[in-house]
Amino acid sequence: MVKFRELTKKGRELAEMLVSDKPKYGTQISLPTGFTFQALLREMENPAGKRRIEFFEILCGRKIIGFCYYTVYERYRAAELATIFMPGYRGKGLVSPTIRFLINHATRTYPQLLRVEATASSANPKAIASLLSAGFNVEGVRPAGYVRGNKISDAVLLGVVLKRDDMAPSSMYQIESFRDKTLERKRLLKQGEILLDQEAELIRNTGLQEKFSKAERIVDIGCGFGQFAAWLSKAFPETDKIFGVDPSRWMIRASEASGNRKVKLVCSDGLKFLDALPAGGTDAVCMRFVINHIPERLWGRWLTAARRCLKPGGFIYLTLSDANYYKTFPGLPLMDLLFSHKKLLREKNGGVWNVPAVIGGHLYAAGFRNITQKSTCLSTEKMGKQNYASSVGDQFVWGVEESWGRTGELARKSLIDAAKAQNFWGQVKFGIHIGEKA
Ligand SMILES: C[S@@+](CC[C@H](N)C(=O)[O-])C[C@H]1O[C@@H](n2cnc3c(N)ncnc32)[C@H](O)[C@@H]1O
Repeated sequence: MVKFRELTKKGRELAEMLVSDKPKYGTQISLPTGFTFQALLREMENPAGKRRIEFFEILCGRKIIGFCYYTVYERYRAAELATIFMPGYRGKGLVSPTIRFLINHATRTYPQLLRVEATASSANPKAIASLLSAGFNVEGVRPAGYVRGNKISDAVLLGVVLKRDDMAPSSMYQIESFRDKTLERKRLLKQGEILLDQEAELIRNTGLQEKFSKAERIVDIGCGFGQFAAWLSKAFPETDKIFGVDPSRWMIRASEASGNRKVKLVCSDGLKFLDALPAGGTDAVCMRFVINHIPERLWGRWLTAARRCLKPGGFIYLTLSDANYYKTFPGLPLMDLLFSHKKLLREKNGGVWNVPAVIGGHLYAAGFRNITQKSTCLSTEKMGKQNYASSVGDQFVWGVEESWGRTGELARKSLIDAAKAQNFWGQVKFGIHIGEKA
């Protein structure tokens, strides 16, 4: 029978031989993509605050026969597990007890965990079988393991849901959890700068110009740095009540510092704010790049709350990117890979990857009518290659930065480098969705 204890100096030496660039004992294990064993050990000793890592060694009698660890992502209330054995102890049925130990330990230490995941190499049916016997459900194949040069190993993702209650926080986007908040701020502002002109054109083409100009009260939920609310206040100077609402104190403070007194900024959760508004008193509820960060099971609540506070004839206004919008020529495998990983992360948290494809039905179900959509393509010709590369590059890195680390940075850099090439071309598609309260 196997036993476990915290990693000792001896265990660490063994682990370094098992998992290194040139492992002494054969095949590399699958660590979370983009991380090396050394990087994880360093992080365990100096936690960066976003995830917790715990390593253990596996003992048979007094002999160390392998090691295992879990990584807890507190924000997502999810954990990832990994195990590795010395060659002579592989395939001996030791994975199941090890996994059980990791699950027990992780859930005891972090009782708020909702989900545990493990990956098995798709080339190793035995590993898959032992994870299945430990209670995992297979959820799909994703690229995992190491990215070296252009080589990436495939892995089967196995996930177990521990509890079925509130599966995720109400929004998956919190600027406070970004490694570099100022970089993300720069990205959002740049995105706004690039999109606002095009959005204004869409507003004119959908006849919304008139509706906005007659509005007395507009709320911009998830207003971020208040750029859109500020734009509204300039474009529609007659509107005397424009609210910008965001739960991030940091974002609200930064918007206040911009000195636009026409916009009333409120630091609050968007749903709470909508619920507290009087029924039927608002002309427009805007949500730009917000609903895509909310788990789908909560959309009904949000959209119904928005509809309740609208006047008859009032409207909801959603700005969204088409997730299948990213088109680059020549293609960049690293970016494609990053993209597919981001999709998995979003879905893992109950989100929807391509929101524009499904939002119409949700608007209808929440009672909206006259649902329309208008979209536009921004190409490198319109945006400039540099703008394209920086805004799309940053876009791909955020949200996966925790799990991709340096690999994400590499992918971003490869896009920026590619944008310098003569024949480089790229395109982004985004649009607005409108639904009216009949
Ligand atoms: C991708 S940003 C978009 C910001 C801004 N609308 C824009 O277009 O630049 C998502 C925004 O949603 C906000 N957000 C996250 N959770 C929210 C919630 N529960 N209620 C309202 N806003 C929320 C975030 O703080 C962030 O500002």
